[in-house]
Amino acid sequence: MSRQITTFDDFRTVSTTYRLPRVLIASLELNLFTAIGTKTWTIPDLARAMKVSERGLAILCRNLAMAGLLKKKNEIYRNSRLGATALNAQHPAYRGDYLRLITSHWADWGRLLESVKTGLPLDHNEPDDPDYRRQFTWAMHHRTLETAPKISAQINLRSARTLLDLGGGPGTYAMAFLAKNPRLRATVCDRPAALAVAKEIASTHKAGPRLSYQPLDLLTDTILGTYDVIWYSNVLHIYSPQDNRAVFRRALAALNPGGRLLIQDAFLHDRDGLFPQEASLFAVSMLLFTEQGNTYSAVETKTWLMDAGFESIKIVRMKKGMEDWEDGILEARAPTTRVKTPAHQTGLVKSSSSRSLR
Ligand SMILES: C[S@@+](CC[C@H](N)C(=O)[O-])C[C@H]1O[C@@H](n2cnc3c(N)ncnc32)[C@H](O)[C@@H]1O
Repeated sequence: MSRQITTFDDFRTVSTTYRLPRVLIASLELNLFTAIGTKTWTIPDLARAMKVSERGLAILCRNLAMAGLLKKKNEIYRNSRLGATALNAQHPAYRGDYLRLITSHWADWGRLLESVKTGLPLDHNEPDDPDYRRQFTWAMHHRTLETAPKISAQINLRSARTLLDLGGGPGTYAMAFLAKNPRLRATVCDRPAALAVAKEIASTHKAGPRLSYQPLDLLTDTILGTYDVIWYSNVLHIYSPQDNRAVFRRALAALNPGGRLLIQDAFLHDRDGLFPQEASLFAVSMLLFTEQGNTYSAVETKTWLMDAGFESIKIVRMKKGMEDWEDGILEARAPTTRVKTPAHQTGLVKSSSSRSLR
């Protein structure tokens, strides 16, 4: 949406944009791209193979062809390149875990009213389930595997020797930084089930032996070791301002003098905290899935960083189309001389956040 909704027609147009997304999700629910595979199909043959109605499939496939996901010539359909690869379970490039995540989010977003009324996530008070964590971690890898190398190509880590990927999940970013910087070693910190996925992924990379693993709860456990750089990507939005302030103090204690904390997130950039649109909409996901998460403005995050003792805070700009979020990276430096961190600042953080947080 490039402009605001001011007329009824604008409202009608925007409020009915669920149609194409629903067509896409229905095609994933049917495993349509896998069923089509590398063959060409008429609708009657495909309907028979998939055990669905010809009428339903014809309208669904016509819309997928309109959107570019299928190719149609006369009455014959085949997969587009994307359909035949990332959306096809028979192909090695299949991104099934991320596709399953967005499919499940369709149903979750349908329950938005519940969270608006209660202010609570849909799975309030459910403990972090290792099976869910494993799937979610693969989904994060599938989400990020093209973005991470683009980001690592734009961040200068030449003088760094050690990097901590805090809440690094699959370690996709850590691996991209290692691949780009041959003298770097990295540690990925996360819950054990996430680290098991990170290990599997790293074992397929040349730079994998330079990655190590630190299981921890980043809200309650001490970060072991000190680092030249801490990469904190897509975790800030899961937690409350109070928890984030505490994480920053602990991150500062784990940085070498002059070291850098790089925070990647869906920052809001205007005075009233409305834009970019993606950052505002992402807060709705945090309402649905976290106890206290939200999206935050770059300015308020800067205040938390300064209060924690960081210096030289700035936005690191990525090239358009080469970023995860628009103006989504904040850099903050640890002072060059170590300030003794009071024990109460590095100690345990009390948090009411759910353990089933994303
Ligand atoms: C949205 S994912 C982001 C993963 C990765 N940093 C990225 O940018 O793709 C958030 C990650 O933070 C981890 N995380 C959240 N809260 C955590 C906690 N209290 N302790 C350890 N890890 C946590 C989750 O397990 C998950 O892997």
